[in-house]
Amino acid sequence: CRVLVLISGNGSNLQAIIDGCDDNVQAEVIGVISNKPDAYGLVRAHQNEIDTSCVIAHKGETRADYDERLFSAIEKYQPDLIVLAGFMRILSDDFVMRFEGKMINIHPSLLPKYTGLNTHQRAIDAKDNEHGASVHFVTPELDSGPVILQAKVPVYEEDSVEVLADRVHEQEHAIYPLVVKWFSQQRLKMVSDKAWLDEKPL
Ligand code: GRF
Repeated sequence: CRVLVLISGNGSNLQAIIDGCDDNVQAEVIGVISNKPDAYGLVRAHQNEIDTSCVIAHKGETRADYDERLFSAIEKYQPDLIVLAGFMRILSDDFVMRFEGKMINIHPSLLPKYTGLNTHQRAIDAKDNEHGASVHFVTPELDSGPVILQAKVPVYEEDSVEVLADRVHEQEHAIYPLVVKWFSQQRLKMVSDKAWLDEKPL
C-alpha cells in the first residue's frame, strides 16, 4: 500500500506512521507533501529517505487553484492512501471527493465533539473529564467524516493545554499507525458514508 502523508508542521504522527510501517506491515510511506517549507516533518522524511514535495500557497491564489496544484503533486505519487497528519489547510469539496474513501485524517478530539481548532482548550473550558483523538475518513464537511478509531484520555482539573495535548498526542501515535495498517490489509473501507472494518460497519 503506497501511503502519502500531508503535513504542515512537526510531523510526530508522520514519524509514528513511518515507524509503524515495519516489515510486518504491507504499507510504505512513499512521499510527504508539506504546504510549509520549514515543517519539521520534512526533516523526518529526509532522515528516512522518503521523497518530499512542498506545495506552498501563492499570495492571492484561490483555494481551487491551490487544490489543483496539490492534486497534481499527489498524482505523481500514485498513492493508495492519503494521510492528513497535521495538514493545516481546508480542502475544497471537489478535491476531497476525488479521493473519497482513500483519505484519512486525525483530529485531536472525541468527534463529533470539537471540530475545528483549539480542541484541548475547549475540552478544559467545558470541564470535560475525558478527551482524546479520532481518526476518520475525510469527507467534504470539516472533521465530520465517518470515525474509524478513537482513543480516550482522562482530563484532570490541574491540566494545562500543553499537558493535555501531550497526553492526546501519545494516543494519536498509537491509533494512527494501526488504522494505516488496517487499510493496507484491505480490512477498512468507506461504504455509503460509513467506515467499515472487516465487512462490518463501525
Ligand atoms: C495533531 O494533534 C493532530 O491531531 C492534528 O494536528 C496535530 C499534528 O501533530 N490534526 P504532528 O505534526 O503530527 O506532531
